[in-house]
Amino acid sequence: ETPQIPRKEPYGLSLEAGTYWWCACGRSANQPFCDGSHKGSSFRPIKVEITEPKKVYLCGCKHTRNAPFCDGTHKGL
Ligand code: FES
Ligand code: FES
Repeated sequence: ETPQIPRKEPYGLSLEAGTYWWCACGRSANQPFCDGSHKGSSFRPIKVEITEPKKVYLCGCKHTRNAPFCDGTHKGL
């Protein structure tokens, strides 16, 4: 199964400490986070544990090889 591509650039976010769920399927309406829309597919969200407030770049194209983080793969899509 191939994920959908919500956008071909990362989401740069300043996140508070906590647990987040990155959408791997690309179907969520609440990008870059899972909203349950993966149901019925083989995709599952990926857990993101943030231990202290920090800026992260979460993959928006869903084709990264370093999920949930952008690794530059979007440039070749
Ligand atoms: Fe995409 Fe849950 S909605 S992984
Ligand atoms: Fe997916 Fe950069 S946004 S690799």
